[in-house]
Amino acid sequence: MLVRTAVCAALAVALSAGAVLAQSKAIAERKEIMKGVGAAAKQGAALARGTEPYDNAKAVQVFAVYASAAEKMPGLFPDDSKTGGETTASPKIWEDMAGFNAAMAKWGASAKAAQASVKDIDGFKTAFGEIGKQCGACHEVYRIKK
Ligand code: HEC
Repeated sequence: MLVRTAVCAALAVALSAGAVLAQSKAIAERKEIMKGVGAAAKQGAALARGTEPYDNAKAVQVFAVYASAAEKMPGLFPDDSKTGGETTASPKIWEDMAGFNAAMAKWGASAKAAQASVKDIDGFKTAFGEIGKQCGACHEVYRIKK
C-alpha cells in the first residue's frame, strides 16, 4: 500500500510537471512569435522612414510575418497559461477570448490584404501605418504593462 501511494505520488508529480511544461511552452512560443512581429515592425519602420532603401519584397515579408503570427497566436492561450514565464498577457484575454481572437483575426486579415497588394513605398507607408495602429490597440486591452 505504501509503495502504491509512493508510485501514485510520483506519477502525480510527473503529470503536473508535464502540465507546467505545456503551459510554459505556450507562453514561450507566443512571446517568440510576438518578438518576430516586433522585429518585422522594426524592419517596416526602416523601410517607411527611408533609413533603408525601399525594397518591395521586404515590405511584403513584413506583412507575411504579421499574417502568420495572427494565424498561430489564438491557439497559444490555454487556461493554464495565464501566469508564469514572464508573460505580459492580460487576464482580459481569458475573460473575452472571442474578442481577443476577433482582434487577432482582423489584424491578420489586414496584414494578408496588404501582403497581396503592396507594390510601392507610398502604399506601404499607408498600410504599415494603419496596421500598426492595431498593435497598440490590442496591447492596450489585452496586455498588462510591466
Ligand atoms: C490582437 C492582439 C495583438 C496584436 C494585434 C499585436 N499583439 Fe503584440 N502582443 C500581444 C499579446 C497578448 C502579447 C503578450 C504575450 C505574452 O507575454 O504572453 C504581445 C506581446 C508583444 C511583444 C513582446 C514580446 C516579448 O518579448 O515577450 C512585442 C514586441 C509585440 N507584442 C509587438 C507587436 C507588434 C509590433 C504588433 C503589430 C505589428 C503587435 N504586437 C500586434 C497581442 C497582440
